[in-house]
Amino acid sequence: MENVVVVYKSRTGFTDGYAHWIAEELGCEIYPLENVNLVNFSPFDMVIFGGGVRAGKIDGIHFIKKALKSCPEKQLVVFATGAAPQEDTEAAKRIQQGNIPANVEIPFFYFQSGINYERMKGVDKLIMSVVRMIMRGMKEKEGSDQMVQAMKNSYDYSSRGDIEPLISYVRNWEDSSLLIADR
Ligand SMILES: Cc1cc2nc3c(=O)[nH]c(=O)nc-3n(C[C@H](O)[C@H](O)[C@H](O)COP(=O)(O)O)c2cc1C
Repeated sequence: MENVVVVYKSRTGFTDGYAHWIAEELGCEIYPLENVNLVNFSPFDMVIFGGGVRAGKIDGIHFIKKALKSCPEKQLVVFATGAAPQEDTEAAKRIQQGNIPANVEIPFFYFQSGINYERMKGVDKLIMSVVRMIMRGMKEKEGSDQMVQAMKNSYDYSSRGDIEPLISYVRNWEDSSLLIADR
């Protein structure tokens, strides 16, 4: 798809992985957020942005806020990757509400990823050890022991199949834009 572009921000590789799966599936261009200054966005009608979740915030989400102002005619789509389980729809809803302005309609998709200590920077490693410590103290919270154990080591629950709803959304959008153009 020549009129679609994927832009992503990734620190430890999970969003990078999902972004490349999406671009491959759609046959579209893809750029890391660090390179967007060099990109001419005028040929694209849809911009798909993805970032990892850090303490509830989607990394690089300022890109979307800027895009809303500078190119309001573009269709924007956001996806986030995080450690919260794919089936935890409440967590996904909280991420959406905490990052996407309520007064705009931007389709949002959440993909479970994991934790990668090997590629994590020192500050993030420190934050994660504090999070584990806090969770260890939350004895009364059901499942927290299990989560602390799971978070001790790197893991990866990324799954290419999870991008399906986003891919379907983009294909339907493309079909309906073609229908409008044909009229
Ligand atoms: C400092 C830090 C904070 C995080 N906070 C959250 C969080 O609030 N919710 C969540 O689901 N995952 C959280 N995670 C897990 C990341 O969202 C997950 O590893 C993500 O896929 C990272 O994306 P990236 O590798 O593309 O940067 C956190 C990870 C780190 C290192």
